[in-house]
Amino acid sequence: MSGSIFDFLCIGSITLDLNTVAGRSIRAIGGSAYYTSLILARLGCRVALVSRVGRELKHVEEKLNSAGVYVAKLDVLDCKPIQFENIYDSSGRRVQRVSCELPPITVEDLPDIEARCIHICPTIGDVDVSVVEWASERSFTSIDIQGFLREADEQRVVKLTYSSGAMKAVRLSNFVKADLDEARCLTGEKTAAEAACALAGDRRIGAVTMGAEGSVICWRKPMRIPAYRARRVVDPTGAGDAYAAGFLYSLVYRGASIAESGHVASAVASFLVEDWGASCSFTWKEVERRIRGNYDKTLLRTR
Ligand SMILES: Nc1ncnc2c1ncn2[C@@H]1O[C@H](COP(=O)(O)OP(=O)(O)O)[C@@H](O)[C@H]1O
Ligand SMILES: [Mg+2]
Repeated sequence: MSGSIFDFLCIGSITLDLNTVAGRSIRAIGGSAYYTSLILARLGCRVALVSRVGRELKHVEEKLNSAGVYVAKLDVLDCKPIQFENIYDSSGRRVQRVSCELPPITVEDLPDIEARCIHICPTIGDVDVSVVEWASERSFTSIDIQGFLREADEQRVVKLTYSSGAMKAVRLSNFVKADLDEARCLTGEKTAAEAACALAGDRRIGAVTMGAEGSVICWRKPMRIPAYRARRVVDPTGAGDAYAAGFLYSLVYRGASIAESGHVASAVASFLVEDWGASCSFTWKEVERRIRGNYDKTLLRTR
C-alpha cells in the first residue's frame, strides 16, 4: 500500500484526552490527526497517517489499522503522551489544559508517500512549519492552524499566541481552518467574515468556525455556513477536525463546490458531537440525508 497514491495524508500527533461536558468526564484517544484520519476513512477515502505518540498510546496503531487508516509512520517516543483536559461550560466554551508536549514532527520524519491532499493538523507545537513547506511542493495543502498558535502558560492552560511561523504556514497552504479565537489571534480582525477573508488572501480558501453558531468560508468572498442541528450534543471535542475532514472529503474526493463542501463540513461535524470522543459511527448516506433535509432552508438563511 505504501507505493500507491492516497487520497489524504494526515500529519499530527495523537493525544490522550480527558473531556468534561456538563459535569461528566471521559478519557478518550484524541488529537486532530486521529479524528480527521478516522473520519476520512469512515467516508471511504484512502487515508495515510504520519504521527507520533508517547509510549502509553502505542496500541493506537491497531485501532487505526482496523478502522482502515494506513499508518505510514508512527513514532513511539519514550515519554508520556500529550494529555489534554478539555473542559466545556454550559455555553460550549472550552478551557484546555495540557500536561506534556512532544518535539515536533519535521521533514526528516516523513516517509516517501504521495497523496492528493496533505492535511497538517498539530495539537500543540507538534509539527514543524517545514512540513507545510514540504506538503506545498507536492499536493493540495490543508492546515488546521490551532496547533501552530497554542502554548501552555505556567498553569498549563492553553493560550493562543501569534507567531510568524503560523503566518508562514497559512501562506503555504491552499486551505486553512481556524476557529474564531484562532483566526482573531492570527489576523487581528474582529468578525468571522473579515478574519476568513484575511486568512484566504487572494489564493486560498479560509474557513473560520464558531461552534454551534456555524462558520464562514472565504474564497474570493465570504459565505456563511450554518451549523446543522445535532440530535444531541454529547461532546464537542473534535468538531473542528470533523469539519475539516468533511470539507476536504467533499472538495478533494468528491470534487464538489466550495459552498456544498461547507455544508458537508458542517453536517459531518454535527454528527461527531453526538457522541463521546472520536466514535464516528455515521454513514455518508446519513450525512446526505441531514443536508437534504435542511439545504433549501439553510441556503435561504445564508443569503
Ligand atoms: N453543538 C454543535 N452542534 C452542531 N454543530 C456543531 C456544534 N459544535 C460545533 N459544530 C460544528 O463544528 C464546526 C467546528 O466547531 P468549532 O467548535 O468551531 O471548532 P473547533 O473544535 O476547532 O474549536 C462548527 O462550525 C459547526 O459547524
Ligand atoms: Mg480546533
